[in-house]
Amino acid sequence: MITNNSRWCRSPAAKPDCGGGSDIVIALVVAVAQNGVIGRGGKLPWRLASDLKLFRRLTMGKPIVMGRRTWQSLPKSPLDGRDNIVVSRDPNFTAKGAYLVTDCAAALVLGRRLASERGVGEVAVIGGAALYEEVLTHAQRIYWTSVHGCPEGDTKFPEFDLRGWGTVSEEPIPKGPKDEFEATLKVLERLPDGLIKRPQFGPNDPVTARDS
Ligand SMILES: NC(=O)c1ccc[n+]([C@@H]2O[C@H](COP(=O)([O-])OP(=O)(O)OC[C@H]3O[C@@H](n4cnc5c(N)ncnc54)[C@H](OP(=O)(O)O)[C@@H]3O)[C@@H](O)[C@H]2O)c1
Repeated sequence: MITNNSRWCRSPAAKPDCGGGSDIVIALVVAVAQNGVIGRGGKLPWRLASDLKLFRRLTMGKPIVMGRRTWQSLPKSPLDGRDNIVVSRDPNFTAKGAYLVTDCAAALVLGRRLASERGVGEVAVIGGAALYEEVLTHAQRIYWTSVHGCPEGDTKFPEFDLRGWGTVSEEPIPKGPKDEFEATLKVLERLPDGLIKRPQFGPNDPVTARDS
């Protein structure tokens, strides 16, 4: 069990303290409905076998970082073929077969170290909303499955400013027999500062990925 109490760092200058000095990319992997919903009652709010297959392909072999609630939502844990890293503030929580850390900075440092040892280029942050929100400022890539539907739910992806991100690829995920919805996989990359598009409307208007 790892109980690293290092502080979560927020400023860009502090990124190296979060293990940011290496070439290893922090990537979010998420499926989001058109209304921003990602979860319901502690579970996924849809049946999407094709996206689960895609999730497996995108994360296989990589360290995966998740919040305690997402860990508890897994039908079978740990997820095989991947280093599972679970974040919880509860020092008494146990997660059999996973690394347990008490803050996000420790999760990223550990994830980067494991990725480096395994020779993989990414740490995959797989949710849920609390973890995405905490890690977003440190992410360079987002594998964003846009789910073509508006299911009811109680957990949403946090709002974020799309202007700092570019879509580098987009591919349809056709609706198979075990899918409730069609979907599209978009790969978003954080833009270098100089390339960020300036707003063409009020500077305080939020631009969110919910509209995409
Ligand atoms: N659609 C998708 O792609 C997707 C992906 C993943 C999850 N989900 C869904 O999202 C929902 C779960 O998301 P959630 O936001 O409720 O929970 P979550 O992010 O999975 O877990 C939250 C928990 O993580 C721990 N945590 C969060 N930030 C922390 C920090 N800075 N330091 C230490 N511990 C921290 C806390 O655990 P303790 O309370 O133990 O301290 C917190 O209660 C479920 O419905 C799940 O199915 C959807």
